Amino acid sequence: MKARIAQAALLAAGAFQAVSASAVVRQLNPNRTCENYRINVTITSDNLEYGLPYFEDNFDVADFIDVVSARNAPDITTFFAGDDDTNATYTIAGTFCQPARGRPDRNKNTVLIATHDTNFDRSYWDPLLDDRYSFVDFVVNKGYSIFYYDRLGVGDVSGYVAQRANQVAILTQLVTMIQAGRYTGTIGRPDQTVLVGHGFGSVLSFEAVGNNATLVDALVLTGFSVNAADFNPIGFLETAEPRIAAFQRPFEWGGLDTASTCEAGYLTPVDVYAEAALYFKAPDYEECVAFYTERTKAPFAILEYLTTFNFDIDPLDFAGPTLLLSGEYDFIWCMSDCDGILDDDATADIFPDATPFQGTSYAGAGHAINYHLNALGAFNIISNFLGNNLPPT
Ligand SMILES: *[C@@H]1O[C@H](CO)[C@@H](O)[C@H](O)[C@H]1NC(C)=O
Ligand SMILES: *[C@@H]1O[C@H](CO)[C@@H](O)[C@H](O)[C@H]1NC(C)=O
Ligand SMILES: *[C@@H]1O[C@H](CO)[C@@H](O)[C@H](O)[C@H]1NC(C)=O
Ligand SMILES: *[C@@H]1O[C@H](CO)[C@@H](O)[C@H](O)[C@H]1NC(C)=O
Repeated sequence: MKARIAQAALLAAGAFQAVSASAVVRQLNPNRTCENYRINVTITSDNLEYGLPYFEDNFDVADFIDVVSARNAPDITTFFAGDDDTNATYTIAGTFCQPARGRPDRNKNTVLIATHDTNFDRSYWDPLLDDRYSFVDFVVNKGYSIFYYDRLGVGDVSGYVAQRANQVAILTQLVTMIQAGRYTGTIGRPDQTVLVGHGFGSVLSFEAVGNNATLVDALVLTGFSVNAADFNPIGFLETAEPRIAAFQRPFEWGGLDTASTCEAGYLTPVDVYAEAALYFKAPDYEECVAFYTERTKAPFAILEYLTTFNFDIDPLDFAGPTLLLSGEYDFIWCMSDCDGILDDDATADIFPDATPFQGTSYAGAGHAINYHLNALGAFNIISNFLGNNLPPT
C-alpha cells in the first residue's frame, strides 16, 4: 500500500513537471512555429555511484557543505563508490521551433541544439518574460531553427542517478535523432547542427564533441570556461546554501526523489538572494527577473553537482567554429572575473583545430546571461558568429 501511494505521488509529480514544462512554451512570436515532443531515448553510460550516505534532512546537507569545503577536503573522487555501465530508457521533454511559413528562414536547415544549466529547465532559452530575454525568439527571427530540451534531472529520475555521463549520452542520442530528421517540425533532416550550451549544458556539449569530433558543425559554449583553476564549485555550494528541494516546496517537489525512498537527492538554493549572488550581476538585471528565476527554478541532482566540475579538459579535435562566451562576472566558472581567461593561450590550446575559435567575456553580465538586461547583445554575438562562420542553409 505504501509503495502504491508513493508511486502515485511520483506520478503526480511527474505530471506536474510535464504540465509546467509545456506551459512555459510561448507561441507569442508570429515569426515562429513550435512543436513539443516527448522523446524516449535509450542510452548506455558509465555512471558514477554515489558513495556517501543519502540526505535525509537539511542538517545532512549542511554537514555536506562542511565536508566539501574543508581545508583538507577529501578529493571529490572519494565521494563515489565506483562506476557501472548502465542501460536505461528515459523520456525527455523537448521543443523544436522553426521560422514560421512566409517569415525569413535563410538558416532554417541549421538546427541549434540547446542544453540548459542545472537550476534551470529548458525555459531558460525562452522564458515567460518579454522578448528581450528569449534566445529562441532571437535566433528564429534570424532564420534559424532550434531544439531545446529538459535535462534528465528536471524529470522524476533519482538525484543519485542523474549525472554528467548519462546526460552526455542523452544529448548525443538526441543529436543523432535530430540529424535523422526526427523531432524537427517540417524541415526534415537538417543540413547543419550546432550545439549550444549554458553552464552544465556546456559541460555536456563539450564532452559530447570531445567524444566525437564530427558530431556537429559548430559549438557555442556559454556560462563556462576550461580553466579548472577558476572554477568555483565550493563557492557555488557555500553561496547556494542548498536545501532539500522536496522540503522547500512540498507541493511542487514533494515527490521528487523522496516519496518512496526518502533519498532526497535533489537540492535547490536557499532563496532568491542566493540566486542573485550565483547567477546575476548588478546593475545589469531587474529584481523582478531574479524573482522570476527563483519561482521557475528547477532543482539539481546531487550527482549533477558532483559531476559538473570534474570533467576531462583535454584538447578537442573539433574543427568547426567554436565560440566560448561567458558573462564577465560569471561567479561559477570564472570566480566573478572572466576577463583574460576565455581568450588566453591556455584556453585556445583546448580548441586547437577550431576554425575559428573565439573567446568572449561578455561585459556586465553574470552567469545567467539570458536573464540580464543586456542579453540581446550576447544573442547578437552568437548569431553573428554563426552567420559569419557557417554557410546559410
Ligand atoms: C517578427 O519579425 C519581424 C521582421 O521580420 C520583426 O520586425 C518583429 O519584431 C518580429 N516579431 C517578434 C515578436 O519578434
Ligand atoms: C516511451 O516510454 C514510455 C515508458 O516506457 C512508454 O509508456 C511510451 O509508450 C513510450 N513512447 C514511445 C513513443 O515509444
Ligand atoms: C546494455 O545493452 C547492450 C546492447 O544493447 C548489451 O550488450 C549490454 O550487455 C547491456 N549492458 C548492461 C549492463 O545491461
Ligand atoms: C560522430 O557523429 C557523426 C554525426 O552524427 C556520425 O555520423 C558518426 O558516426 C559519429 N562517429 C562515431 C564514432 O560515433
